[in-house]
Amino acid sequence: MSRYHDHSTREVGQEDDARSDFWQIPTDWPVLDADHVHLWRVDLNQTDDLVARYSRVLAPDEEYRAGRFRFERHKRRFVVGRAILRQVLGRYLDLSPAHVAFGYGPKGKPFVDHSTDHLIRFNLSHTEELMVLAVSLNREMGVDVEFMRPISDIDQLADHCFSEKELRTFKQLKSQHRRAAFFRCWTRKEAYVKAIGDGFSAPLKGFDVSFLPEAEARLLRVVADSEEADKWSMCSFEPALDVQGALVAAGNDWNAHFYRWAKPWSECVSVV
Ligand SMILES: CC(C)(COP(=O)(O)OP(=O)(O)OC[C@H]1O[C@@H](n2cnc3c(N)ncnc32)[C@H](O)[C@@H]1OP(=O)(O)O)[C@@H](O)C(=O)NCCC(=O)NCCS
Repeated sequence: MSRYHDHSTREVGQEDDARSDFWQIPTDWPVLDADHVHLWRVDLNQTDDLVARYSRVLAPDEEYRAGRFRFERHKRRFVVGRAILRQVLGRYLDLSPAHVAFGYGPKGKPFVDHSTDHLIRFNLSHTEELMVLAVSLNREMGVDVEFMRPISDIDQLADHCFSEKELRTFKQLKSQHRRAAFFRCWTRKEAYVKAIGDGFSAPLKGFDVSFLPEAEARLLRVVADSEEADKWSMCSFEPALDVQGALVAAGNDWNAHFYRWAKPWSECVSVV
């Protein structure tokens, strides 16, 4: 089954303009159906004016977190990310951004903490100035994006976090293909541990994902539970040049839709 429109599988190295076209800016707010996962690509690098306006929608605990960043650019990214998260969720929930309330799972996974008639779920990931936010209707998800930086000790890193089966496949690859393969595998693994809410407290070697370019994106096996792999499905995407992303969501009856948070949405920030 196709999880996304065909042109989503762009190779790293293609023009960024092509990616921009792929992540559409919707003219009307998109309808979220039960078989949709909406992915929003967000540029965290915003003007001083917008950062100042965005900082007014944060809750006291978020202001506290913002105040603890050592570097100004990290603080700005956090403020913009949280404010846009509130804006986006507020649109789906029909609430003002400041009224969106969050709860946190035992390992810190945030969720929308509202009464039962709202079944909006989300997960997000950031790398440098880019954030990708996944939103669904009552479907558990995890998302990860990583800037594909050069890694000198890539084989040691793979030894450290890939399963035996993944390592066997990885070591058969020619060295020039290993970086792309590493990030494809890594983002799928991190998206899965975020989907189940455990984060890095989950045993990364305890499950296998596919990651060869020609293979369908799949959670192949979870050692501790033979039925677990069939409960999830995944897709990979490249939200910007040299950035790899992966989404894992419950079930196999969903499709991903790709949107860009930009004008006009970024400018109509309501603070109340
Ligand atoms: C979740 C985790 C994998 C994210 O790793 P990362 O590569 O640094 O960050 P990403 O940008 O991909 O994702 C960060 C976002 O994931 C979300 N998140 C946090 N904890 C999460 C969890 N347990 N599961 C899923 N998502 C989580 C948050 O929205 C966070 O955004 P924020 O920092 O702006 O609030 C990592 O922080 C982790 O393992 N956390 C759990 C820690 C843990 O096990 N604690 C045990 C004691 S409580």
